[in-house]
Amino acid sequence: MTQPITSTLDPEQQRIAGEALRGTVVDLIDLSLIAKQAHWNVIGRNFRSVHLALDELVTAAREFTDSAAERATAVGVSPDGRAATVAEKSGAIGFPDGWQQDTEVIDAVVGNLAAVISRLRERIDATEKADPVTQDLFIEIAARLEQLHWMWQAQLATA
Ligand SMILES: [Fe+2]
Repeated sequence: MTQPITSTLDPEQQRIAGEALRGTVVDLIDLSLIAKQAHWNVIGRNFRSVHLALDELVTAAREFTDSAAERATAVGVSPDGRAATVAEKSGAIGFPDGWQQDTEVIDAVVGNLAAVISRLRERIDATEKADPVTQDLFIEIAARLEQLHWMWQAQLATA
């Protein structure tokens, strides 16, 4: 197969970075879909703040999806953000069907963020030598998602 987009990485570096980036694209698309599902279905006393915070998460997930997908293209790897691929390969833990109580939504968002961050941290390790530029993007994404992970936990936390 011809490679229409060449890479400055060697084949092994490209394979490692490409796999990590494709996985990240899938996780972040799923995270954005979960957050929208929750945005529409949340009910309860804290509806408004949770509803609005969910769109903040959607925005972050969508922006980083594009960053990861376009980093893949920059190293000559085709991203795959199709629904079937996301359904098969996402590392997010998912979200239940139907109306959801605000407290349950917060727990679900914290759990999904933790799952996605855990995979990002594996990819930070995996790309350290293979492609530090890709690693830098993963670190940026992880930093923002960990900030959101804190903010979501803080909504239910008690001292
Ligand atoms: Fe909305």
